[in-house]
Amino acid sequence: MISVTCVAPVNIALIKYWGKRHEELILPVNDSISMTLSTDELCAKTTITASETFEKNRMWLNGDEVPFEEGSRLMRCLKEVHRLALANGSQKVLPSWKIHIASVNNFPTAAGLASSAAGYACLVYSLARLYEIPLNEELTTVARQGSGSACRSLYGGFVQWHRGVLDNGSDSVAKQIAPSNHWPNMHVLILVVNDERKKTASTKGMQQAVKTSQLIKYRVDKVVPERIPKLREAIKARDFHAFAEITIKDSNQFHAIALDTYPPCVYMNDVSHRIASFVHAYNEIMGSLKAAYTFDAGPNACLYVLEENVPQLLYAVQKVFPSDSKDSPAYLRGLSVPKVDNIEVAQKNKIDLLDVHSKNAFRYIIHTKVGEGPKELSADNSLMKNGLPSVH
Ligand code: DP6
Repeated sequence: MISVTCVAPVNIALIKYWGKRHEELILPVNDSISMTLSTDELCAKTTITASETFEKNRMWLNGDEVPFEEGSRLMRCLKEVHRLALANGSQKVLPSWKIHIASVNNFPTAAGLASSAAGYACLVYSLARLYEIPLNEELTTVARQGSGSACRSLYGGFVQWHRGVLDNGSDSVAKQIAPSNHWPNMHVLILVVNDERKKTASTKGMQQAVKTSQLIKYRVDKVVPERIPKLREAIKARDFHAFAEITIKDSNQFHAIALDTYPPCVYMNDVSHRIASFVHAYNEIMGSLKAAYTFDAGPNACLYVLEENVPQLLYAVQKVFPSDSKDSPAYLRGLSVPKVDNIEVAQKNKIDLLDVHSKNAFRYIIHTKVGEGPKELSADNSLMKNGLPSVH
């Protein structure tokens, strides 16, 4: 029996992937750019055990067995990895051996928190370690076939997924723009409005958008090709202002397209819109862009903010969105935040003038930052013992 255990990060798109030009190969209609989040706060963890004696491939997700069917995205990833393993001449584990996979997310699944990206990235990265395949662009084409956004989670820092032009998808790859240490003070506050399963899955929502939205065409032909080089430059120059403006605009355009879809897909709710307005009001009183928001296919807000501005933004969030559980450890999760005493009085006074929303608008906050790509954990056997998932 041979086992590997790996963790892989979540990534949050700054320029969104929305729409496919090939459903099965998962080829997108436009390029996208994302930031990878630290695995210390959010990650998928996967153990894969291979053995000559296993009768069939099996997989458990968060403790529950899930089907491992022919034709599924899971099977497609495994087949692609086998193809690379054969080409690579890997000997340690033979593709004929069956595998058992146990995977967990340390955050809510399918809540618009990019769980499928971390999950498939972790699966593909773990398989690559098992079959001794190096991490390279070709491997990102395998993760892409699990879930499009997963290809970006194979790298840390800032990552671009190139749509590619070839029909076989071999040039639809993810590449790193800059590593996490390029902009280490880039932090994120995720305001979790709702962590239940989302109504319209991304796959279905984007299919409908490509079929029915007229705006998506303009986005693909004109807007994204202009935005991509601008965001790359902003990242390279560590220009927060430009970064924030593009990120905010792209989130809004993505949701405009969701609404332009027939029937419309509504991912943001009243609280999400209230958070977006709050960020604009906050930036206004600060005199420049100090925070950016983005929303994926769900109501949760992801706020980008530089580390030095976190205490002040958090103070403002708590002022505008008061919470009864403010002092509970479950309310502010992840990285700790220095005390509010460090905020200048003048700024505090301006924040105190913002309109206050009703209580308990969102559930909790996760404070995290830019992070690195997947990694193997040696000697971690917490998920699986003797090829079967451990109780957790
Ligand atoms: C809104 O990668 O989950 O998060 O390829 O069908 O599995 P599939 O979709 P998925 O879509 C992610 C959509 C998004 C934007 C993004 O991450 O770029």
